[in-house]
Amino acid sequence: DASPAAKCPFNHGKKQLVEATTNGDWWPNQIDLRHLSQDPSSARPSSVPHPTSSTVSSKLSSPREATTYKSKFESIDLRQLRRDVHAAITTSNPAWPADYGTYAPLMVRLAWHSAGTYRVFDGRGGGNSGNIRLAPLNSWPDNANLDKARNVVLWPVKKKYGSKLSWADLIILAGNVAIESMMGEDFESVEPLWFGGGRVDAFAPETDVYWGIEKEWLQDERHGDAGGELEEPLSADQMGLIYVNPEGPGGNPDIQASGRHILSTFGRMGMNARETVALIAGGHTFGKAHGAAPDSHVGPEPEGAPIENLGMGWKSDYGSGKGKDTITSGLEGAWTAHPDRWDHGFFTNLYRYDWEQTKSPAGAIQWTPTDESIERNGGLDAATAVVDAHVDGLKHLPIMFTSDLALRYDPVMGPISEEYHAYHDIFTEEWKRAWYKLCHRDMGPKSRHLGPYVPKEDMRWQDPIPEPSSAIDVDDVANLKATVLKAIDESKASVSDLVKAAWASASTYRCTDHRGGANGGRVRLEPQTNWVANDPSSLAKVVTLLEGIQADFNSKSSRQVSFADLVVLAGGVAVEHAAKKAGSEVTVPFVPGRTDASQDATDVQSFNKALKPSVDGFRNYNESSDRPEHDLFDRAHLLSLSAPETVALVGGLRVLNANSDSMQVGVLTERPGVLDASFFENILDLSTDWAATGDGKLYLGTRADGGRPWVASRVDLAMASNSQLRAISEVYASDDGKDAFVQDFVDAFAKVMNLDRFDLLA
Ligand code: HEM
Repeated sequence: DASPAAKCPFNHGKKQLVEATTNGDWWPNQIDLRHLSQDPSSARPSSVPHPTSSTVSSKLSSPREATTYKSKFESIDLRQLRRDVHAAITTSNPAWPADYGTYAPLMVRLAWHSAGTYRVFDGRGGGNSGNIRLAPLNSWPDNANLDKARNVVLWPVKKKYGSKLSWADLIILAGNVAIESMMGEDFESVEPLWFGGGRVDAFAPETDVYWGIEKEWLQDERHGDAGGELEEPLSADQMGLIYVNPEGPGGNPDIQASGRHILSTFGRMGMNARETVALIAGGHTFGKAHGAAPDSHVGPEPEGAPIENLGMGWKSDYGSGKGKDTITSGLEGAWTAHPDRWDHGFFTNLYRYDWEQTKSPAGAIQWTPTDESIERNGGLDAATAVVDAHVDGLKHLPIMFTSDLALRYDPVMGPISEEYHAYHDIFTEEWKRAWYKLCHRDMGPKSRHLGPYVPKEDMRWQDPIPEPSSAIDVDDVANLKATVLKAIDESKASVSDLVKAAWASASTYRCTDHRGGANGGRVRLEPQTNWVANDPSSLAKVVTLLEGIQADFNSKSSRQVSFADLVVLAGGVAVEHAAKKAGSEVTVPFVPGRTDASQDATDVQSFNKALKPSVDGFRNYNESSDRPEHDLFDRAHLLSLSAPETVALVGGLRVLNANSDSMQVGVLTERPGVLDASFFENILDLSTDWAATGDGKLYLGTRADGGRPWVASRVDLAMASNSQLRAISEVYASDDGKDAFVQDFVDAFAKVMNLDRFDLLA
């Protein structure tokens, strides 16, 4: 198009921006820093709290916005809110008529799909950010018609409570109220299920979550060509599914394979086999599947729908497009005779009948009882014939999915199902507990949970930490700091040892599910004390030293210091000491109040599976990654760090010699243990000639001045080679940037030490 309009960059500006080729298109291997500044405050109205405020920033004393959500949420009359939710889900709206006169099962599915994306490996996914209302999750095929659950059913409640109640909290609460409404005749007299509020909504899609590489819905490239193990950290079998394909892996109705996939995917959500069986059987005690006709009748998902659909997707031209004509998954039917109540129907049907493969009207593979097994049981009766969702008096055969049959026929889940089948009370109790875990797995310690329905009991999966008691005061802190300093002077531990221990303790934190962190002092317990990344021999030295100081102090004082506090305090003393050697007087902010967890309250297996680092660029630790520089920014995101904070930490930790091992990789300074900007000056020095060594993991820097060659990792080199990181490194290497570097390092270090201090949020 050679028209003048086409040549003018301003005329078609919008189109050009939408279609422009991005840096990521030109350089697909470029480090992506965008997720460190995703969902900025500017993406949300000012009245709505920001999620990063749920972690403690370096400004330890200033009030933060999470406080605002807490106080907003706590101003709600929760009994009234439960009544409002109950009214909304038990009043059918002609815009999307309720099955069986209640949206309760739909709400259970909404809450489950919201929470069920959680995965243990990186703590991402889950219901704690309300991300199910944003792309891509709002448009995943598995989330079909959940837009109605939010925008038709729950919106009036959300509208009434506004910013006092996040969508994320409302969705989980609606799941709870739905279950409560199906558990007894009289909703008002049913004991509320456990619930903790405090989820803060995202207002922009999360850019940090890896959902898989497939470019088409329901594709599976994540098991590799040979159909092997599911790729980490994913926890769903196909793109756009929450877990497994109901028809069986890849649509193949193989019950045994389905069982294996269920155990593997649910395991990645942190659920054991009992919890997995309880959840699936409990969930499918309610509601029905919708597949009135083939999905060729169904229009695009919300994100791809025409603008006049106002964000609503899956518009169907089959019949009325709703009610009895609904097409959601393409499977059709209910599992129990009365899908609007909690009963034992799922297991009764699962075991009473033999099941044969059939097809839904939409063509999906499902299972119904064989004629022979119906006859053997004297025909369908009131306990097994399924009532119709819309037509009085109409009855159906119960159905099962391939994945449901796996609960009976899988060698691990089968015996558990038999037990639940035999004991309804055990099933009910374990279902409630598993439901609570499902919906709160990504909320962090109990201290973050708001409202009157938080259980008193400590759950092991919440990594319990004792309540603080008699905290030390300012004078104690000064005395303890002097004791630590003396220990450094007497060479009982080095700056490097103390900084490493503090980093090992605090840096397990992840903002995605609020696990890890220094509180609890778990760095002295199994398994952390023996993680290779933590340099066990150096750590053991520090643990012995600090436990000695702790015992001595506590025997002489009525106030008690925790190990958790001491390891952070000692790290701070080491940093101050190292800064002083460089001529900078700095104070690392320290607030006591951490407590020590016990070994008994520490799930070793879960810590190893979820929190054990295999690569940590901050310490130049790398077991097997080819792209440690990318992994660094993944870790930085989990620590809620910005790009400048990350760069300052890398440069500072290097000169403090805080590597996981004693190799001097990236320690680009003549004076290790002195906190100055040497790392940045040296990495930007183009007179050094860098070349990859053997396996390409390490680089050797030959220096023009003939000095001892430097050794660096890809993480170190990225600080100069990536243009954005270089821009930051230049600031710190400049003649006027040295003080700024020390201060930025101290701030970022203190921020990491305090990431899990939820108690400091007023
Ligand atoms: C419905 C699959 C686990 C709760 C459905 C539907 C499918 C499905 C395909 C039909 C959706 C529709 O067409 O409307 C699966 C698979 C699971 C699983 C493959 C794992 C193996 C769970 C769990 C829960 C749950 C763990 C709850 C804790 C429900 C509920 C419905 C439902 C309540 C009925 C929704 C309604 O009536 O509208 N499930 N599900 N499911 N699922 Fe699951």
